[in-house]
Amino acid sequence: MNQAVNSPFRYAGGKFYARKLILEYVPQHLSYVEPFAGGASIFFAKDKVKVNWLNDIDEDLVNVYLFIRDYPEKLIDALKNEIATKERHSFYKNIFIPSNPLERAIRWYYLNRTSYSGIMNMKNCYWGYGDKYSMRPENWGRNILRTSHKLQNVRLTQLDFEEVIQQVEDNSFLFIDPPYFNADQDKFYNHSFSRECHYRLSNILKYSSHKFKFLLTYDNSPEIQELYSWAKLIHEKEWNYTINRTDDQKRTKEIKDGIKKETVAKKGSRYKGREIFITNFSFAKKRLLLLTWI
Ligand SMILES: C[S@@+](CC[C@H](N)C(=O)[O-])C[C@H]1O[C@@H](n2cnc3c(N)ncnc32)[C@H](O)[C@@H]1O
Repeated sequence: MNQAVNSPFRYAGGKFYARKLILEYVPQHLSYVEPFAGGASIFFAKDKVKVNWLNDIDEDLVNVYLFIRDYPEKLIDALKNEIATKERHSFYKNIFIPSNPLERAIRWYYLNRTSYSGIMNMKNCYWGYGDKYSMRPENWGRNILRTSHKLQNVRLTQLDFEEVIQQVEDNSFLFIDPPYFNADQDKFYNHSFSRECHYRLSNILKYSSHKFKFLLTYDNSPEIQELYSWAKLIHEKEWNYTINRTDDQKRTKEIKDGIKKETVAKKGSRYKGREIFITNFSFAKKRLLLLTWI
């Protein structure tokens, strides 16, 4: 049975739009691990295997995953009368102080579903819901239930990536999607990923990856290419995606020659995702030919 569902979250740096491309690279495996899970678009887009492990250092993110896995009804019940408005967004962001893990999960879920690009770093968490393109609150319950179903028997942890990589069982497949090397990731996430962390990741992969297969995705920079010169393959990849904005984000007011002028950004602006895929294994020739064609 095909178990593919969409990620329950909107997530900065998420791989939702690249999921089909990435799935082409996923080899047969019985144990699957994401050390930097975020919205876990790839886990949700594929079938589960014998062992499934999602990890992220973000405590609130892991807390909401745990709630969805273990107590979906509690979260559904707490959110069932919610409406998506700027006022509620501002309430959850600025006023509501969670006093227990359920309340933390409620706040996180509400803000994630209604914020621009699902950015959960409070310094950059702005209202970004639109009835036409966002999941409406009346559908949140169904989203939580299908996510809960998929998360059954999935191991969820909140560890530093290094601890996870040290513990993976032999012959696992790891999908590794760390914060970008060059972009200003502190804007999006709650834990900064320093230059030293990027080197630490390369190091542990270099010395332990004889035990497992991995696919690592990164922004394309000479330094990353150099850092992974030991890897088997480095592919440059591209895909298209769209970002919708709410009406008030679309209007940027300019004062020009003393006259107030409104500029309206294009509806659903299109972008290109450009990254490199790094693997420590190669593909059958036929598959590779097909892939280099994409
Ligand atoms: C690019 S995002 C992952 C996106 C994900 N693949 C998706 O499709 O939504 C990177 C994630 O790494 C997490 N992270 C940052 N530092 C980490 C660390 N030291 N160990 C584990 N996770 C970390 C962040 O919290 C963030 O969720």
